[in-house]
Amino acid sequence: MKITAVLLAAGQGTRMKSDLPKVLHPLCGKPMIWHVLEALKEAVTEPPVVVVGHGAEAVTKYLGDSARTVLQEPQLGTGHAAMQAESLLRGNADLVIVTYADMPLLRGETFRRLVETQRLNPGPLSLLTVIADDPRGFGRIVRKADGTVQAIVEEYVATPEQQQIKELNVGAYCFNAEWLWDALKRIEKNPKKGEYYLTDVVEIAVKDNLPVQAVLHDDFSETIGINTRVHLSEAEAAMRARINRTHMLNGVSMTDPASTYIDAGVKIGRDTTLLPNTYIHGTTVIGERNVIGPNTIIRDTTIGNGCKILASVLEGAVLEDEVDMGPFARLRKGAHLKSHVHMGNFGEVKDSTLHEGVKMGHFSYIGNAVIGANTNIGAGTITCNYDGERKHPTVIGEDVFIGSDTMLVAPLTLGDGARTGAGAVVTKDVPEDTLVVGMPARAIRKLERKKKG
Ligand code: UD1
Ligand code: MG
Repeated sequence: MKITAVLLAAGQGTRMKSDLPKVLHPLCGKPMIWHVLEALKEAVTEPPVVVVGHGAEAVTKYLGDSARTVLQEPQLGTGHAAMQAESLLRGNADLVIVTYADMPLLRGETFRRLVETQRLNPGPLSLLTVIADDPRGFGRIVRKADGTVQAIVEEYVATPEQQQIKELNVGAYCFNAEWLWDALKRIEKNPKKGEYYLTDVVEIAVKDNLPVQAVLHDDFSETIGINTRVHLSEAEAAMRARINRTHMLNGVSMTDPASTYIDAGVKIGRDTTLLPNTYIHGTTVIGERNVIGPNTIIRDTTIGNGCKILASVLEGAVLEDEVDMGPFARLRKGAHLKSHVHMGNFGEVKDSTLHEGVKMGHFSYIGNAVIGANTNIGAGTITCNYDGERKHPTVIGEDVFIGSDTMLVAPLTLGDGARTGAGAVVTKDVPEDTLVVGMPARAIRKLERKKKG
């Protein structure tokens, strides 16, 4: 059986009051529409079709190869939107899920339940409903005396009695494909708004004496639809709680989930502990047994096992195992800290590799540099990597000792075992095992290196 989905994403989203198309507004770090496509993946056998219209260019660009799109122009309502998918899907699907891109909390298993219900339904469609005290502007489910579904009535056309109805149209349907394409053509333009409402297909089925199945859903938090930024913040809170719960059930500790912010798609290994006020964004992947936070922001970063990261900001970085950092450390794009690196307070590293066991305890800037294993970077060291026009590299060997407040004027190479005196301004390469001091620094002595181990 071929099962596909049509995702409606062409509406203007007027109530968001935004220049950004509604479906691209982020929820836990990913556009709303991403969440819906992820959930749909679990229920379909054929790739979904997204109906785009308002902001089509931006939405299509974001989707890239992840979904097929059709254009709805002009946007004449949800029924009219669904109709646009017919040319791509007619004859290519048995069942079609239709849902809205502003319902990002619906789960894959919920769509699957809807599909299963429709598989067994002799009638042409099944739809998802929920019972709630706050109607949030949703369509009301009108049932006949025998309990079967009769119609969906939109809020602004509902009579006062209908407005009291607590069963709401969530906005997820599963149709027999061939029936859907014909029924869509029978929808009449709503006289008040001049739009074609997808919800009117329910009455069309009922008129033809075909049974409509309702799947009553018990998790209201899944059915938060987003029409305003207030709804967006409510959805964010619900999604965040769901993400945190999943990590905790997978073995991640959080002392305060309410102040722990993790984007969708982030991976975290077991026995890692997240302390309060920690933000983990983007494509970040974190291993096992790390202690992170409090007060830490991590974006697009890969972290190994057994690291300690306290009150720091990391972006586009790689940390291997047992790295110890902070408080108040900052890693920028291209920072690569190998195992057992220690980075203390007020350090910044960008586009640089710090090999095993490098120590930089206090107040340093390292940019465009490679630092050999077990080298010690003294307090206040700066790689002067920028001459006002270009960036230049600094290469520091193994077992080097950089004295406090050294300026390393790049391009520059320091050999293994070299040393600089406090306050040195190093403008020329330093051979291995050589001590340089002063401004500009000059060599004063050849050194004998202590054998390690
Ligand atoms: C819709 C339902 C309502 C349901 C609610 C659940 C209709 C008529 N009403 O109302 O019963 O309770 O969702 O969230 O379907 N769209 C298009 N083209 C258009 C118009 C809309 O693609 O011409 C898309 C929008 O981008 C949006 C979705 O359809 O993703 C729903 O549109 P929206 O205006 O948000 O409908 P609701 O008022 O929420
Ligand atoms: Mg809506």
